[in-house]
Amino acid sequence: MKNPFDITGQVVVVTGAAGVLAGQTTRHLAENGAIVALLDINKEKLDARVDEFRKDGLNVSGFVSNVLDEAILEKTRDEILSRFGKVDVLINGAGGNMPGATIPPDKTVFDLKIADWDKVLALNLKGTLLPSIVFAKAMLQNPGKCSIVNFSSMAATRMITRVLGYSNAKGAIDNLTRWLAMEFARVHGDKIRVNAVAPGWFIGDQNRALLTNPDGSLTERAHKVINNTPMGRFGEANEVPGTIHYLISPAANFVTGQIVAIDGGFSIFSGV
Ligand SMILES: NC(=O)c1ccc[n+]([C@@H]2O[C@H](COP(=O)([O-])OP(=O)(O)OC[C@H]3O[C@@H](n4cnc5c(N)ncnc54)[C@H](O)[C@@H]3O)[C@@H](O)[C@H]2O)c1
Repeated sequence: MKNPFDITGQVVVVTGAAGVLAGQTTRHLAENGAIVALLDINKEKLDARVDEFRKDGLNVSGFVSNVLDEAILEKTRDEILSRFGKVDVLINGAGGNMPGATIPPDKTVFDLKIADWDKVLALNLKGTLLPSIVFAKAMLQNPGKCSIVNFSSMAATRMITRVLGYSNAKGAIDNLTRWLAMEFARVHGDKIRVNAVAPGWFIGDQNRALLTNPDGSLTERAHKVINNTPMGRFGEANEVPGTIHYLISPAANFVTGQIVAIDGGFSIFSGV
């Protein structure tokens, strides 16, 4: 194989593409020759992201869509198919946490807002399963090899205090990744691979209040994170796309059902 990492001409669909990590991934994949369809529910953020990428000469298109609505996803898929003729890759980037599904410092699990827990479960779990089903149908029409990449988290496997709903949801993402990988491989051979990345600690909007004080200094919790990360620092958003590039490339043709940590060693450290 000349360049096993070549992704030129692959049609890549990215959900939550106006966000931080999925957005950075979109840029990287487009810079490396992929044709990228950016999906997001937030039109304003999406338009701004698409404009920014187009100004840099990247081959991207934006689609306002909702990962929780099957009919809207089907419409988006059909628009993508009529514009680009195929779908090679789906990256399930839409996801995240919300305050009500997290236990505040002065509260306990008995104060959990179940309605918010439901919403976090839905956004992360259903919001990964539905696009996977909708876009996998298009992948089965594609004569080439296809793949799906999900976003897990350290919260899936290491119990992180206070973060209940998000941890439950990302644990389920690990399970879903393995289950879909098994099912597609069993029924369709190497046609659709399913893997996930598990980013460690990156400071973004969803956790900024937990990790930084109003004056920008790190909180006590942030220091605990750093002390439990052998590399001794937070991750940078541009350190995520390379692993996803590998997972969707021919170099990973026999890799499925894997969850790859991008965490500076957080997941393998005993803390001692
Ligand atoms: N940032 C981190 O530190 C971190 C760490 C581990 C895992 N993750 C996971 O990585 C993924 C990407 O994270 P991020 O930091 O880029 O998130 P982000 O919050 O920056 O972006 C999420 C995007 O999803 C969009 N979105 C929300 N609901 C949607 C819906 N129903 N349909 C379509 N789009 C919708 C939002 O508008 C937003 O643009 C998420 O699953 C997140 O949980 C993030």
